[in-house]
Amino acid sequence: MIDSRIRTVLKFVKRGSRVADVGADHGYLSLELINSGRASRVIATEKNQHPFEALSKNISGVAGIEARLGDGLKVLTAGEVDTICIAGMGGALIVKILDEAPEVVQASRALILQPMNGADKVRDWLVRHDWTIADEDLAEEAGIIYEIICAERNSSAEMFSREVSPLREKFSEQRLKKLQRVLGEMSKSPSARASEKFSALQAEVDALKNHSQENIMTRLKEVPT
Ligand SMILES: C[S@@+](CC[C@H](N)C(=O)[O-])C[C@H]1O[C@@H](n2cnc3c(N)ncnc32)[C@H](O)[C@@H]1O
Repeated sequence: MIDSRIRTVLKFVKRGSRVADVGADHGYLSLELINSGRASRVIATEKNQHPFEALSKNISGVAGIEARLGDGLKVLTAGEVDTICIAGMGGALIVKILDEAPEVVQASRALILQPMNGADKVRDWLVRHDWTIADEDLAEEAGIIYEIICAERNSSAEMFSREVSPLREKFSEQRLKKLQRVLGEMSKSPSARASEKFSALQAEVDALKNHSQENIMTRLKEVPT
């Protein structure tokens, strides 16, 4: 059974797409892409030998999926896929993979990205490279909330109705706790306290606190008197 994180990545893939599943590991996303009919073809890439062997075994005999051993998108040529999925990796690695295969990325029309951390790095990259963040969603699995970002080329934002996920508040609370823990650790070192990273994290904490205060005020206004 696929989990809600993979299901959320999958829902952003347009029917009939030709998809690259980068860092496919076990191949669950690749298999679901083909079995659900969302993808007409999947190229599943894996950098490491051990997961590549598991991937090859899991997809063996399934028409429409091809496994390639190699680094990110470097094992593809431009135009082979129109949609790129990169899930379950850090934001910095996702950005590196996109940066290292500009022709393949340029020839695609959709990027569906699920960073495990550093989601803002991914969003910055998308904006700087003229991608439109067409939609986003959150998925919860075993108490952890994941961010899934869907970017499109030449997309008109009005085409998408961005609904606020019911997980948004819980996600913000988790993020706030995590940042407060990191800031607490950093505070112990004078050089870490003086760093740009400390200020950036502190600014994010302030923004999250303000946002949650606004939510409380909105809820209070909504309570009938
Ligand atoms: C945590 S798993 C995520 C698997 C799957 N994408 C998912 O979301 O469930 C990350 C996978 O990416 C692979 N990987 C890491 N760096 C890679 C790269 N540069 N190119 C291809 N695969 C990579 C790892 O070997 C690992 O199997």
